[in-house]
Amino acid sequence: MEEKSVPRVDLILALSESLDLISPAIVGHHIRVAFLSLNIALMLNMQKDDMKNLIYSALLHDVGALSLKDRLDVLEFDLKDPHLHSLVGHSLLKMYQPFDEISNIVRCHHVSWNNINKFNEKNIDVPISSQVIHLADRIDVLMDWKRDFPNQMDCIMKQITKEKGKKFNPDIVDAFSEISRSKLMWQNLNSNNTLTLFNAILDDDLLDIDEMINISKIFEKVIDFRSRFTATHSSGVAHVACKLAEISGMSENQIKMMRIAGNLHDLGKLMVPKKILEKPTGLSKKEFDIVKNHVYYTYSILKKIRGIGEIYEWAGLHHERLNGKGYPFNKTDKELSFGSRIMAVADIFTAISEDRPYREGMKKERALFVLEDMARRNEIDKNIVSMLRTDYSEINEGRMSVQKEIVNQFKGFWDEINLNHQSI
Ligand SMILES: [Fe+2]
Ligand SMILES: [Fe+2]
Ligand SMILES: [Fe+2]
Repeated sequence: MEEKSVPRVDLILALSESLDLISPAIVGHHIRVAFLSLNIALMLNMQKDDMKNLIYSALLHDVGALSLKDRLDVLEFDLKDPHLHSLVGHSLLKMYQPFDEISNIVRCHHVSWNNINKFNEKNIDVPISSQVIHLADRIDVLMDWKRDFPNQMDCIMKQITKEKGKKFNPDIVDAFSEISRSKLMWQNLNSNNTLTLFNAILDDDLLDIDEMINISKIFEKVIDFRSRFTATHSSGVAHVACKLAEISGMSENQIKMMRIAGNLHDLGKLMVPKKILEKPTGLSKKEFDIVKNHVYYTYSILKKIRGIGEIYEWAGLHHERLNGKGYPFNKTDKELSFGSRIMAVADIFTAISEDRPYREGMKKERALFVLEDMARRNEIDKNIVSMLRTDYSEINEGRMSVQKEIVNQFKGFWDEINLNHQSI
């Protein structure tokens, strides 16, 4: 991966797409909301910089709805509790300082127009972008995307107009009413021209590797914080993978790429319902197939990111085995790069060594026995396993201290959200 090679929009689009994996009922929700929001913004003559943050916020707006239930609940037009997932999203996004404004927009994306004063009294500013996303989001929820769009407009406009000046900002409703008559907009939405429109606004916004690490850290939390069972897994894997990369003499840049791959290796797990995620044993064949699919999604979603280099392979091939018996592609030793082999070992080592609420992690000799046995069967790379044996104490102590820190972050994270939620 070269210096500043990854367009910010590509990374955020990939992460946004992963958020919609959890149910076929919501596939494409984030990108459609971003598209509708941007069209409204153009109608309102928003500044280009504001439009950038609007697009990113819209692409990530439900990032805090971590469970399948949370995501399906927000499909109701009248939400019972709209603010919890907005607060969770706000807390996740603000972990990365350059996302401050985006996190503030996400926090308020369900605030009704006639409630803005109440938020202002609590010193919370409700940005215009939040109000735009609010309307775009509710329109997407009302739309039946399998049917012809323009024909549904009369009915949807009626519902929206009823809430003009109550739920929704009247100027934004007027702007949408205007653009909803444009056939071209609906055609663009239908023909995947959305990306062209985004690129026109976001063209030169490239990320360097440190910014990528910081954004991947947010998603590491989105993946892991869904369940206390897995709350620290990705950070543990990333730590072990980086250590192995360092010992084997990879360059500083490659080690940073390894960190991103480790943080995102289970990105596709966002499509696995929490109920299955938390089942310690006894998965049915169907459930196991769902779990197995996660790597395919990690691989295919990350692969779309321009300039990402080998990160998508390292992340997406961690369940492949050298003897061809892994998944999803049954790749063999000739096709598996050193980085992918490191990730496979780091994932297994972390999974068997970390404590789970239903079992204790394996100690040194037991864990190494499992890994060496797998190496003997030519499933994983024996040289990497032997590096792990040589530097076991250093690697394992590092893993434990990283994971301990994340457990504390996890507790603090939910405590803060509960507190803020009560005060709304
Ligand atoms: Fe939402
Ligand atoms: Fe939404
Ligand atoms: Fe994993």
